[in-house]
Amino acid sequence: MKISMIVAYGKNWEIGLNNQMLWHISEDFKNFKQITSGHHILMGRKTFESIGKPLPNRTSLVLSRGEFEQEGVYTFNDIQKALDFARANAEEELFVIGGANIYETMFDYVDKMYLTEVDFEGQADAFLKEIDFSSWDLLEQREYEEIKEGDKVKSPAWKFKVYEKKD
Ligand SMILES: NC(=O)c1ccc[n+]([C@@H]2O[C@H](COP(=O)([O-])OP(=O)(O)OC[C@H]3O[C@@H](n4cnc5c(N)ncnc54)[C@H](OP(=O)(O)O)[C@@H]3O)[C@@H](O)[C@H]2O)c1
Repeated sequence: MKISMIVAYGKNWEIGLNNQMLWHISEDFKNFKQITSGHHILMGRKTFESIGKPLPNRTSLVLSRGEFEQEGVYTFNDIQKALDFARANAEEELFVIGGANIYETMFDYVDKMYLTEVDFEGQADAFLKEIDFSSWDLLEQREYEEIKEGDKVKSPAWKFKVYEKKD
């Protein structure tokens, strides 16, 4: 089973504030939905609570060391048990979808990264650990312009990149 990570981050590796996302880029949400649909998605309890519900057409695996339980998701207190569950369901590509804590813990297991680099700088309390790209091959890259509504930036510019770990 391949383990992939999908994340959107700002110029200073910021990914969240007060358990919320820092921007709204609807095209990136569509992209996320398309990439992860039909797959197992692995997340921390805080990210699940930030999303608020199981995402449709995906099998949600939530990590918690506490008493967390929620209809429509599978909860694990141990990462290996979550990975074994996905393997037993014949998953071919599991997606790690956050947050900061889970990205950091899972990073050494990750084979492929789907990255959204957002042209954003601002206050944050959740960050991705800086990635050293020298051990990764870039497979794909697309660039998107900012979207304005009058004078206001409705959604910032962003780049979508896919990387695979070098052998
Ligand atoms: N920009 C993006 O792409 C993106 C994506 C996802 C999330 N985010 C942001 O990231 C932030 C949340 O990140 P976070 O680091 O605070 O929380 P998180 O990683 O979502 O969840 C952390 C929780 O996961 C559980 N956990 C962690 N390691 C575990 C392990 N080894 N075994 C079992 N359970 C484990 C614990 O839950 P218990 O406390 O219940 O034990 C821990 O408190 C939010 O701001 C969110 O908006 C951004």
